[in-house]
Amino acid sequence: MVRNIICYNAFQHMKIIKNQIEHLIGEALRQEFPDKVGSEIPIDYPTEAIHGDYACPIALKLGGNPRENAQKLLAAIQKPDWLEKIEIAGPGFLNFYLAPQFLNDFLREIIQAGEHFGESDVFAGKTVVTDSSHPNVAKPMGIHHILSTIIGNSLNRIFAAAGYKVVRDNYLGDWGTQFGKLIYAYREWGDEAAVKKDPIPELLKLYVKFHDEAEKDPSLEDRGRAEFKKLEEGDAENRELWQWVVDLSKAEFEKIWRRLDVEFDVIHGESFYEDKMQPIIEEGIAKGVFVEGERGALIAPLQDESMPPAIIRKADGATLYATRDLARIKYWEDTWHPDVMVNVVDVAQELYFRQLVEVAQMLGITDARNEHVQFGRMSFPEKKMSTRKGNIILLEEVIDEAVERARAIVEEKNPNLSDAQKTAVAEAVGIGALKYAVLSQNRTTNVTFTWDKVLALDGNSAPYLQYAHARASSILRKAEEEDAGFADTGAGQLQEAASLNLARLLPKFPEVVARAAEFFAPNYIATYLFDVARAFSAFYAEVPVLQAEEPERTARLNLVKATKIVLANGLGLLGGVQAPEEM
Ligand code: ARG
Repeated sequence: MVRNIICYNAFQHMKIIKNQIEHLIGEALRQEFPDKVGSEIPIDYPTEAIHGDYACPIALKLGGNPRENAQKLLAAIQKPDWLEKIEIAGPGFLNFYLAPQFLNDFLREIIQAGEHFGESDVFAGKTVVTDSSHPNVAKPMGIHHILSTIIGNSLNRIFAAAGYKVVRDNYLGDWGTQFGKLIYAYREWGDEAAVKKDPIPELLKLYVKFHDEAEKDPSLEDRGRAEFKKLEEGDAENRELWQWVVDLSKAEFEKIWRRLDVEFDVIHGESFYEDKMQPIIEEGIAKGVFVEGERGALIAPLQDESMPPAIIRKADGATLYATRDLARIKYWEDTWHPDVMVNVVDVAQELYFRQLVEVAQMLGITDARNEHVQFGRMSFPEKKMSTRKGNIILLEEVIDEAVERARAIVEEKNPNLSDAQKTAVAEAVGIGALKYAVLSQNRTTNVTFTWDKVLALDGNSAPYLQYAHARASSILRKAEEEDAGFADTGAGQLQEAASLNLARLLPKFPEVVARAAEFFAPNYIATYLFDVARAFSAFYAEVPVLQAEEPERTARLNLVKATKIVLANGLGLLGGVQAPEEM
């Protein structure tokens, strides 16, 4: 028998139960299969509670008879108190069942941890730098920018909860030849007052006008380029005009970020890297990574020949999007030495990011894992697209509509709330529903956005989770009124299946969060919260709480409290979805 080195109380500091199970199996492996030490110990979450809380198929992978292997391992594991039992199932799975006593006790840990429950140190000591939102100056945010903003914001919160040090950057599109065109167009046709009044639509109009005119008179293209060249060379007037446009646009973007509760630590747009490209170009040439291509451009041929070479500098000396991105990678490395670099960007840039990462590797500018966190398309069949480009919807309009529709639900569900409360709840529900609709999907699938689904009170939606939270809050409010001064003696135990089914989900929250961080997948949290909310409904339908006798009443109230904490914290990690006390 191996000595069981994990004492019960250690759970206070080691919140990831899965790791404890892994450790138990690892010890047994060392004893019974010494030559297999170091092999991966896969641990799954069985979908049916009858198969336990954790299942491990390792016995199937050791060679020989799997059931015999499982028996050997089982005999070598000294079952800790926090496990009720370990069983062998099917061809040789080891199933682990958490003990009811442990589940009961754990509720108090959740309550004590409060808003910190869900945090862990799985990625402690590691740094991640992220780039998300990154709209283009002088243009409205497109759908892909909205998705990037919402997904990036959630990932930033999830990374921090899983222990990462997070640097939240935003690679604003504020540089490139288009600014030369805009400068030209503004001088030719612009109206200062109109731009000040409604900056982005006015600037977009100028940009569109430039293109229309350039179709008639192609010499405009050269004039636009000339203005950009002046801008690059530091021409004072062009600089001033450009800065004005950047500031106006940023102020508009800020409004959206604030409304969505999105923050950044730094906003280093493309222009920030203007003076950081030359050193990279020289480094690339010196290392033989950049070579002269046809017609005088500087290119980086890639090892993977299915990809076209990356263009680093055009024949006329102009740098490109990729040149700036390489400078960004180097700057991130030199400034923060991150373990992981994350760019939350539309799937349309997949090839581009593959090229970029390969060039960065050839240059050897970073050891960090570079992750292009991409997402699928979202379509809004119920919404008329606002510009002729077709891929732009005005986020403000979608948010306003979400809030308006949420308000109607609140009016119907809870007409007795004050007007101010209704407004606050509608804002929380409307914006929450929007965020959740994005985050609850597998990132890479295409999503059709329909109001019925997004605002459903009975489906996998933010309002459903918020409603469960509000119900838990209302139970706790009533209890508080009834038993002021009542102290928890710890004598009550959860025994009913519906209570235990809910209780057994709750300790897994920190590991779900860590998994979401590992796989860049906020939807893991959404799926989990939906399970919690459903288990809570079943519990509440079957088991009396306020009407129960002591000491069970207190045990059940603790379950409600812990559930409320998990729902609120989980929604918070989904990009700050609010959890109102009443709905
Ligand atoms: N501004 C760019 C666009 O709208 C996205 C920037 C993505 N981030 C990056 N590091 N390239 O397409």
